[in-house]
Amino acid sequence: MNLARHIEQYLPGKLLELVKDISGQAAKHGERVYLVGGVVRDLLLRDPSLRSGPRFDLDMVVEGDAVKLAQQVAEADQVELLAHHRFGTAKLRYDNFTLDLATARKETYARPGALPAVTPGTLEDDLIRRDFSINAMAISLATNDYGELIDPYHGRRDLEHRLIRVLHPRSFSDDATRILRGVCYEQRLSFEFEAQTARLLKRDIPMLDTISGDRIRHELEHIFEENRPELVIRRLGDLGALHRITPSLKGDGWISEEFDRARRLKKPAQLPSLYFCLLIYSLSERDIEQFLARLNLPAKLSRAMRDTLRLKASLPLLDKPLLKPSEIYHLLREYEPLAIQANAIATQSPRVRRTLQVFLTKLRYVRTALNGEELKKMGISPGPQMGKVLEVLHGAKLDGEVRTRADEKQLVLSLSLRPER
Ligand code: CTP
Repeated sequence: MNLARHIEQYLPGKLLELVKDISGQAAKHGERVYLVGGVVRDLLLRDPSLRSGPRFDLDMVVEGDAVKLAQQVAEADQVELLAHHRFGTAKLRYDNFTLDLATARKETYARPGALPAVTPGTLEDDLIRRDFSINAMAISLATNDYGELIDPYHGRRDLEHRLIRVLHPRSFSDDATRILRGVCYEQRLSFEFEAQTARLLKRDIPMLDTISGDRIRHELEHIFEENRPELVIRRLGDLGALHRITPSLKGDGWISEEFDRARRLKKPAQLPSLYFCLLIYSLSERDIEQFLARLNLPAKLSRAMRDTLRLKASLPLLDKPLLKPSEIYHLLREYEPLAIQANAIATQSPRVRRTLQVFLTKLRYVRTALNGEELKKMGISPGPQMGKVLEVLHGAKLDGEVRTRADEKQLVLSLSLRPER
């Protein structure tokens, strides 16, 4: 099957020019280059909505030296290059797309979950090491057979039947992240697992224990970039995969509503961290520690997730009528904004939600007009006294008791006239 026309329609003009150019350069050394993986799958599905996000990430396999080829391209195009000599892979970063070039390779797994040992191989070796048949197709970019589909494992047939199929029975145990990836494709594309694959997936759920925290986290981040990650999370919950990552983790119906609400409030770039906070919303403090330790999450996000639960426990303090802005400020100032946002989404109380939103959109930005330097000029000595004056000023500003710089000065004078107790 020749897909030359598909390629021309699917790839943006500049990107097309670039991949042809790379293939031409490779040909000078007698090397061949192929498009491979997700781009081939999505191009065959002809669904433009599958082009994920504004960036285009393209995978290419080189029968030859991918790093050397990428170095030449990076030099000619003056773009950033990230090379992994050990794996024979290189990433080229352009403004609107990244290209991953990989030397065709054979992989062997010393033990389940380990990173594979890599040796150079043919295109077919490279395709059989992949996760699913629908991701194990390639398209030639060489001039003599440009556009030719290489599909030794019948990925196209599986695409037509909307099936996700592993290439061999050890696939999930070699690399259990494929359990998470498979469910992601199942939900994104509305496909089904082929019967034997479904059996293997269920059998190998315990193999998730062999995957490092960093890799599990990476897959969850990937899931959180989906349009509707709650579908993936729920399914992973039903399959017992979430439970395997952290025993108390569930993907129940509640998550769907909260994720949906998060999407209506936040820009895509902020969503993944927020999803993490919502995912753990019904865990206990002890369980969340287990989750954080398992996933080796970055410090800032871990803090936001802990704060999410601490604040959840304190929400009753905010569920009162007539709280002054300064009181709200003092109750919330120590929490990570992300944790406040997560609670604003997840709380059942409309009053608490409004209060949290007022803090997030207004109160946290309120500043006094006078600063420490100016107070010094007014005779306030630095240290605890100044700290107190600033706090009173800030509170008065929050509560609308002072508005202008002159009001603030007036207040400071009245404070400093008072005898110290
Ligand atoms: N791959 C694999 N096993 C993995 C990860 C990746 O076999 N554990 C292979 C698949 O062939 C996949 C390709 O590497 O198609 C590229 O991986 P990635 O960029 O993660 O996936 P895409 O197929 O591009 O999918 P997505 O649309 O989710 O980005």
